[in-house]
Amino acid sequence: MEGKVFLGQYLIWMMVLLGQLHGYKGCIQKERNALLELKHYLISISEKGQPDYILPTWTNDTKSHCCRWEGVKCSRTSRRVTKIAFGDLYLKENSFFNLSLLHPFEEVRSLDFSECAFSALFDDMEGYKSLSRLRNLETGPTLRFWEPMAISM
Ligand SMILES: *[C@@H]1O[C@H](CO)[C@@H](O)[C@H](O)[C@H]1NC(C)=O
Ligand SMILES: *[C@@H]1O[C@H](CO)[C@@H](O)[C@H](O)[C@H]1NC(C)=O
Repeated sequence: MEGKVFLGQYLIWMMVLLGQLHGYKGCIQKERNALLELKHYLISISEKGQPDYILPTWTNDTKSHCCRWEGVKCSRTSRRVTKIAFGDLYLKENSFFNLSLLHPFEEVRSLDFSECAFSALFDDMEGYKSLSRLRNLETGPTLRFWEPMAISM
């Protein structure tokens, strides 16, 4: 009897453990590339000479799992990115963030810009619509959404 209880507990632990391992696997290739593209963009709008300080764990080496990159959270079941927290990015003054770069992330629900000094967010492909999927947007005090379409019309 005791043996059975023990076995049951053992199985439950195994399942929990496997679930965790699954959750920590790399994100899908398309999103990994999109994260690297995002990093490339962030470096392009950062102050000169700072690239080494910008998201240093986001590297294109096959051994690093992108769900473990700094600021990135993934869904345990789908392995898709669900949250991105950008940290301090040493940006040039008056930098705008192009939200279109987040379109490849179908399950992103939470963005944290609270530590970066973006002056505005914009999306020249979908406009405000791209924010509607988010459940949580953390921004600095001065961040606004810039609608280029509204200005050009
Ligand atoms: C990542 O590395 C692979 C293989 O070395 C290469 O084909 C790919 O273009 C790289 N991606 C980026 C975004 O640098
Ligand atoms: C924003 O990003 C999208 C997708 O990569 C691109 O097509 C668009 O040209 C970018 N807009 C600007 C102003 O850089």
